[in-house]
Amino acid sequence: MIDTEIFKIDPENINGSAVARCAKIIKSGGLVAFPTETVYGLGADATDKTAAKKIYAAKGRPSDNPLIIHVARPEDAERYAYTCELYYRLAEAFMPGPLTVILKKRDIVPDEVTGGLDSVAVRCPSHAVARELIKAADVAIAAPSANLSGSPSPTCAEHVAGDMSGRIDAIIDGGICEIGLESTIVKIDGESVTMLRPGGITVDALRCVCEHVEIASAVTEALGENERPLSPGMKYRHYAPSAQLVLLDGKDSDVTEFFLNAQKNENCALICYSEELSVLDGRKVIDVGARDDLASQAQRLFGALREADGFGADVIYAHLPKQEGLGLALYNRLIRAAAHTVKKI
Ligand code: TXA
Ligand code: MG
Repeated sequence: MIDTEIFKIDPENINGSAVARCAKIIKSGGLVAFPTETVYGLGADATDKTAAKKIYAAKGRPSDNPLIIHVARPEDAERYAYTCELYYRLAEAFMPGPLTVILKKRDIVPDEVTGGLDSVAVRCPSHAVARELIKAADVAIAAPSANLSGSPSPTCAEHVAGDMSGRIDAIIDGGICEIGLESTIVKIDGESVTMLRPGGITVDALRCVCEHVEIASAVTEALGENERPLSPGMKYRHYAPSAQLVLLDGKDSDVTEFFLNAQKNENCALICYSEELSVLDGRKVIDVGARDDLASQAQRLFGALREADGFGADVIYAHLPKQEGLGLALYNRLIRAAAHTVKKI
């Protein structure tokens, strides 16, 4: 057991000496969980292979699932990767922000960070605390989401503490993550990009910068038995609640009707829209926001899954999101948590 220190840092009024202490932990090979605009990350010096190994041990993560490295400015990627013109076009449009780009790696990034791949994932977060921490550490910070492997990504410091207390050196509490889902990941192939994971940067937004945007089939479909994934993370079942999660595909009013009946007849938890609250029995019900407010649904989804799991229900029901805009990221996270269990109603 390690004694995990908690630093509360207000993003609006950053305490420089707390940031400096956390940067010192990173520089001396330790692990610090920190907030980003997407989810909390579990950070270590991206050039230190021993520190990278500690990340895998703390999370219980398979060592072939590579880490994202976080830089303070898009051009800092040069030190760690081979960039190209399209990288800078994407950076100009979306960085700092929730976009991760896969590039060919330079030797300074150890194989322990990239799971032995010759590419590296680079992201420049927009969260003020994350940026100050990277600047103070003066090195890229390798960071996966700060959850135990198999749990939903943490969107507040309490989630991180629940999973990581006693396993890491420090946690920076910088409040709730604004986006709530992990970054969009793209791979550059010449003049086109392939989306490996949907997130806050949508397909339409990418198409404004790059004419050819493909979506990897694993974003919406189950990976075939002998299929080789484009991203190692695609092959791992990300998060499985202890109760079966079932996604309901049908008209909104029919789903509400289904919810009502399920509450009468089953021991179920419901992940619902604000509009449905007034007609449902309030027990074991979690509101993720208004029907059309995809940003709120994204921000609250992972917290809702953690909460629903705590209810001790036999089954969890949720709406199947539409695959448009930010809905694609919601769809991707939910369909994987449900192991593709969809009920048509
Ligand atoms: O928003 C985010 O991206 C958060 C915050 C902390 O920045 N990080 C995050 O990291 O979600 P993680 O480790 O939970 O997910 C990283 C994903 C994994 O699915 C991994 O397989 C993929 O990125 N990945 C990393 N390096 C890759 C590479 N070189 N090629 C293909 N996929 C890669
Ligand atoms: Mg993760």
